[in-house]
Amino acid sequence: MENQNNTRFLKACRGEPVDIKPVWFMRQAGRYMKAYRDLKEKHTFLEMCHTPELATEVTLQPIKALEVDAAIIFADILLPLEPMGTGLEFTKGDGPVIPRPVRSRKDIENLKPVNSEEQLGFVGDAIRMVRSEMNGKVPLIGFAGAPFTLCSYMIEGGKSRDFTITKVMMYETPDLWKQLMDKVCTVLIDYLKMQVKAGAQALQIFDSWVGCLGPSDYEEFILPYSKRVIQALQETGVPVINFSTGTSTMLPLVKQAGGDVMSFDWRINLDDAWNQVGFDQPIQGNLDPSILFAPIPVIRKRVEDVLKRARNRPGHIFNLGHGILQHTPVDHVKAVIDMVHEYRYE
Ligand code: CP3
Repeated sequence: MENQNNTRFLKACRGEPVDIKPVWFMRQAGRYMKAYRDLKEKHTFLEMCHTPELATEVTLQPIKALEVDAAIIFADILLPLEPMGTGLEFTKGDGPVIPRPVRSRKDIENLKPVNSEEQLGFVGDAIRMVRSEMNGKVPLIGFAGAPFTLCSYMIEGGKSRDFTITKVMMYETPDLWKQLMDKVCTVLIDYLKMQVKAGAQALQIFDSWVGCLGPSDYEEFILPYSKRVIQALQETGVPVINFSTGTSTMLPLVKQAGGDVMSFDWRINLDDAWNQVGFDQPIQGNLDPSILFAPIPVIRKRVEDVLKRARNRPGHIFNLGHGILQHTPVDHVKAVIDMVHEYRYE
């Protein structure tokens, strides 16, 4: 199969110049699209993840409806929790629930090792299927949660506002924290390498909630593990996107975790963020997902603001600072893609 190294998305990941700026959206497959909601009437979210034919169909929905420059495999960062033995449920309106949270030494010892090829092979199968169906149209991104974000779900048992239980483990029993993070890193490396073997052409590591920590905690409790995962993946040769939110006060530290591309959220101006990590660092971002609810002229102004701040420097992938929100108008998503593709630098 073609490696698509010359696509605008993969070129931008390597910091090479492109004629037209690449754009894709985190969570581009999902509830804001009618085709997804229709399929969701017949299947639960986990069924869709577990069934390669359905995951393939959902992955391709935005590829068919929108002119995005990359696909992202339909899955969830929490899927590795099932073979690890904590359980995983999605209850309507409440988000993810982990029925057996991991809080004690015993809980950590009881976590099962994971053979991704066997136990998460449905994700690999979906990746193979999407690659074959797309037939080279756009590159496919694989993904997983970063060690912190995944551990925070395991410890809290679901979504959290303050991450207190997680932080208490970190501060009170650092040896347990290390034990848990070590185990999670091993699973993540195996899982992501399996995705590359199946055909993922880039990887994104989602550290969605790490912004709840300050810089010294990030440096001590997070950085060594994120770095370990990212370094191990760079052996595969595909670009790795280091994604986080709420980290604009510690970008140079987040950069130390590595990754070919760094993703920024909207809490900082793109040029300021880029300047802090060096303009030779390829980047992704950083429109506020809420802007997509505004009238088109307002959206245009804000999209152009991001583009102007990026200047015509190579190595920028246009994206939101976080995932598309549930009720986002599809027409506005389409409009943003056109604005990015049609924009010309003087
Ligand atoms: O980007 C894509 O199109 C690929 C699919 C994708 C999903 N989840 C599908 C999904 C990706 C990349 C994710 C990653 C993910 N999952 C993250 C990191 C990204 C981020 O937004 O920070 C996180 C934190 C999760 C955990 C998770 N899964 C949450 C918080 C939720 C939402 C729960 C809710 O009810 O609001 C999910 C469920 C989920 N994952 C949905 C989708 C399409 C919605 C499921 C549904 O249809 O009800």
